[in-house]
Amino acid sequence: MTEKKKFQAIKGTRDLLPPETELWNRVEQTAREVFGTFGFGEIRPPIFEPTELFARAVGGETDIVSKEMYSFEDHDFGELEKLRSVLLIRELELENPQSASLHKGQLTEFNAGLEAGMKGRKIPVTPVNERALADLKMHTAKIEILRSDYTGGEWQARERFNASVTGIRQALRVVKFGDVISLRPEATASVCRAYIEHGMHALPQPVKLYYTGPMFRRERPQKGRYRQFYQIGAEVLEMVPPNQDPAKSIGKDAAVDAEVIEMVMAFFAQLGLEGVKLEINSIGDRECRPKYVELLRAELLKVKDKLGPDSQRRIETNPLRVLDSKLESEQGIIAGLPKIADHLCANCAGQYAEVKRQLGMRGVAYAENWRLVRGLDYYMRTTFEITARGLGSQNAVCGGGRYDGLVELLGGPPTKGIGFAIGEDRLILSLQEAGKGGAAQGRDVFVAWMGEKAQATAITAAQKLRAAGFRVELPPVEQKFGKALGQADKLGARYALILGDDEVATGQWTVKTLADGSQAKVSEAEFLEMLRKGKALSS
Ligand code: HAM
Repeated sequence: MTEKKKFQAIKGTRDLLPPETELWNRVEQTAREVFGTFGFGEIRPPIFEPTELFARAVGGETDIVSKEMYSFEDHDFGELEKLRSVLLIRELELENPQSASLHKGQLTEFNAGLEAGMKGRKIPVTPVNERALADLKMHTAKIEILRSDYTGGEWQARERFNASVTGIRQALRVVKFGDVISLRPEATASVCRAYIEHGMHALPQPVKLYYTGPMFRRERPQKGRYRQFYQIGAEVLEMVPPNQDPAKSIGKDAAVDAEVIEMVMAFFAQLGLEGVKLEINSIGDRECRPKYVELLRAELLKVKDKLGPDSQRRIETNPLRVLDSKLESEQGIIAGLPKIADHLCANCAGQYAEVKRQLGMRGVAYAENWRLVRGLDYYMRTTFEITARGLGSQNAVCGGGRYDGLVELLGGPPTKGIGFAIGEDRLILSLQEAGKGGAAQGRDVFVAWMGEKAQATAITAAQKLRAAGFRVELPPVEQKFGKALGQADKLGARYALILGDDEVATGQWTVKTLADGSQAKVSEAEFLEMLRKGKALSS
């Protein structure tokens, strides 16, 4: 007998159910509408991409890429992979002829399989794989010779044999049967990849795209933090014309930044999101940021002993992230560190000032936060984050910024970029906490019928009402009217349409208004009219 297993959604993932999904749909629909008014079109990139894409774009040293991605090798070589596992755990001795012949057979089979796969280009022909195959063949041959020449008791032979066994294991471990791919932890990298792949630089610039969908990060789950979560994001990409003077585009870039931020704020306002706070910063560019980072590193080294282990490590890996620290004991020290705003180059400072002026012109309120550095490597100049009420410690509901140069880094033409992503789970949570979750989906009409003839009328009535856009519940089997009315009530129906022999014969339908219990006899046309009027009154 097969064991009964209780299946549950994997930790950090969850089912979104009605009626909550109605709110999700409303939020997404509002995003489509608002973003549409700003000229954005939808992109739906795949959910998995080569790991290399995220490593290159987001940064190999970031938490997202180094710790949180769901990655796997994508290939058709399951049997070869199993064979590798067997070979990796097999204990080998020079003196044991039985295990030797089995090992020889399996190793030869593995080598042949790998070679054939690479020849047919189904297994990637990378320098690592080529080297591994050569090593495997060499050590397999060596082992063979050592075995056939072995006459017992020679320690040199045993040593050489062990060295080859180690060599084989090392080569086996590094072989990649297919490309390593990852579930997307974010979508900016995918949008840039798509911009390049589809030659979007040839379209009228800028290209404005938005997306909605699941992202995956292996974070510690808690309120507002999931391993599968949803983002609503938007990106503006614009190829840089050859020989453009960077100083000349500052005003334009700032206006684009401000408009993107204005769009998120308009979306939040449309939804009635409460306690919305926008924070902005400039983190400089390739010219001024490295100098600031060095200054910061030097200052941090002076106070190293007073910092916690995470910040101590970051002095080396990424000093900017120390500014992100929430550790109480570090706050006083961080407050005294040099601020990037005082170290921006002229172009970055000019652009930052212009972004603030542009936000002012658009009536967007903001606060400056010089410690806002963001956890992804691709940003430069403008960065921003938005928080909302009711979210506890995970209160960032949106993050974004400018990423000029990212498209180029991924192999495309010099291109400017700015965008953001909203955490939809958190957005929904904040709306619900503020009581803006919306009511459960009710029914306009519950059709209570009894008798065969009435069923035929009930089916046609339901068809007509649904075609007119009303929500109709039609029970599959007849029910006593009392029971039917009880169910209509539970479902939150506005009207019960009662159809029995009498109604079928006269064409006059009995309609009960569930809110006040009143009842009337009406024709089909009159009932439709009633519903339409009711709809108009309640919407
Ligand atoms: P991010 O700051 O990593 O930026 O994520 C954006 C938002 O996604 C966060 O502010 C948060 O609301 C939500 N979020 C992130 N991780 C989780 C999680 N584990 N559970 C629930 N919500 C989460 C980006 O992803 C960039 N791609 C944004 C961007 C677009 N920058 C430029 N263009």
